[in-house]
Amino acid sequence: MRSLIPLIAISLLFSLLPLAAEEIAGPNYDESKVPAYTLPDPLVFEDGKPVKSAEDWSKRRAELLNLFAEHVYGKTPVGRPDDMWFEPRKKVDDFLGGKATMEEIRIHFSAGDKGPFVDLLLVKPAKKKEGGFPTFVSPNFPGNQGINASPEITITQSWVRETKDAVKEGMVVDHHATEKSRGVQTSRWALEKIVDQGVAVATFYYGDLDPDFDDGFENGIHALYGKPAENEWGAIGAWAWGCSRVLDYLETDGSIDLKRVAVMGHSRLGKTALWAGAQDERFAMVVSNDSGCGGAALSRRRFGERVARINTSFPHWFVKNFRKYNENEAALPVDQHELIALIAPRLVYVASAVEDEWADPKGEFLSALHAGPVYELLGKKGVGVAEMPGLNTPVGETVRYHIRSGKHDVTDYDWDQYLKAILSL
Ligand code: GCU
Repeated sequence: MRSLIPLIAISLLFSLLPLAAEEIAGPNYDESKVPAYTLPDPLVFEDGKPVKSAEDWSKRRAELLNLFAEHVYGKTPVGRPDDMWFEPRKKVDDFLGGKATMEEIRIHFSAGDKGPFVDLLLVKPAKKKEGGFPTFVSPNFPGNQGINASPEITITQSWVRETKDAVKEGMVVDHHATEKSRGVQTSRWALEKIVDQGVAVATFYYGDLDPDFDDGFENGIHALYGKPAENEWGAIGAWAWGCSRVLDYLETDGSIDLKRVAVMGHSRLGKTALWAGAQDERFAMVVSNDSGCGGAALSRRRFGERVARINTSFPHWFVKNFRKYNENEAALPVDQHELIALIAPRLVYVASAVEDEWADPKGEFLSALHAGPVYELLGKKGVGVAEMPGLNTPVGETVRYHIRSGKHDVTDYDWDQYLKAILSL
C-alpha cells in the first residue's frame, strides 16, 4: 500500500499538468467574450508620425519587419550562406502519367555534403511554357513522399513526427518515414490540377530545415549558424528562410516565371509562408491557408488558440520575447494585420475554413481587412468588403479572402482559388 503512494502522487501531478496549461490559454469560442481592442496602425511610425507616401511606407516597412523579428519570430540571417550549392539528384520525365516532370535537387547550405540540406521536389508541367511556369513554393508536413503516391519520390531520411495514427499505420517507425507514408497527404496537393493549368510546384519537407520539436536548436539549419541568441530565429523563422533558399534555386532553373512565384503554406506552414513573404519581396504572391494564431489571425481577439497557448505548446516556434505577450496581447507593438500589410502591394490570399475555429476565421478575415489601408496607399485595393463574406464566396483582387465549408485542411477548392490568383498575376 505504502509503495502506491508515490505512484498516486505522480499520476495526480500528471493529471494536473495539462489542466494547468489549459488554464493558461484555454480557447474562447464565444464572440461576445472577445475583448475590446485597438489595433496598432500600420500607417503610423513608432514615433507617432503618420505614413503619408510610398516612400514613407518603405521606411515604416523596415520598422515593422524589425518589430516582428524582435517580438514575434526572431531575427533571421540575411540572404543565403556563401557556400550554398545545388545537387541535382534525380529527374523523371514521365511523371503523373506523362503530364509532368519531376526533379529532386538537394540544396546544401555548406560546402561538401556533410552539412544541413533541403531536399527540393520540383514538379513541372510536361509542356514547356513561354515565359516560364508560375510556381508555388510550398513546404510540406510528411516529407516529399507524402504529397503523392508515386514510387519515384525519394522518402525523406530526416526526423519526422510520430503521430499516433502514423505509428499505428506503420508510416513512421522510430521517427523515420516508411514506404507506407507515400501519398498520405495526396488530397492536400492537387498536383494534377496544378500542372494542368501550366503551374509548377516546388515543395520540401519542413523538418529538413528544423525538426519540429523543442530541441534547443541543436540541429537543422540552426546548427550551421550556431545556437540562436534569445532574439534570433525560431523554427518558423527557419522554415521561412528555407522558402527563400528554394527561390534562390528556382532563379537558376531557367524554366520558372520568376515574376509569378508564390509562397504557400497550411497552418503552421501558413504562418511560415506569411513570414517568408513579408521578408522576401521576390515572392509575388503569398497564400495563408488556415494559418491561425501567429499567422493571419489577430492576436488581440483572443479567440480560439491564443498567444499563451501557442507559446506553451510550441515554445520553439517563435522568439522568446513573444512570451511577454502571453495573456497580454494588448501590449504587442504589432498585430497580424501588419504582417499582411508587409506583403503589400503584392497579392496576398488569406483563406479560412468554417469548422476551424481554433484558427479564428474571423480574426483571419479582419487581418486581411485591416491591411487594406497600406494596399490603398500603394495604389491597390484592399479586400473590397467590410464584412466577412459568406461561405465559399471568394472576395478581393490583390488582397483575397475566402472562408470555405469544412475543416482545417487544404482542399481542391482552396487550390482552385490559389490557381486563379497566381494566373491573374
Ligand atoms: C496546432 C497549432 C496551430 C497550428 C496547427 C498546425 O493546432 O495549435 O497553431 O497552426 O497545429 O500547424 O497544424
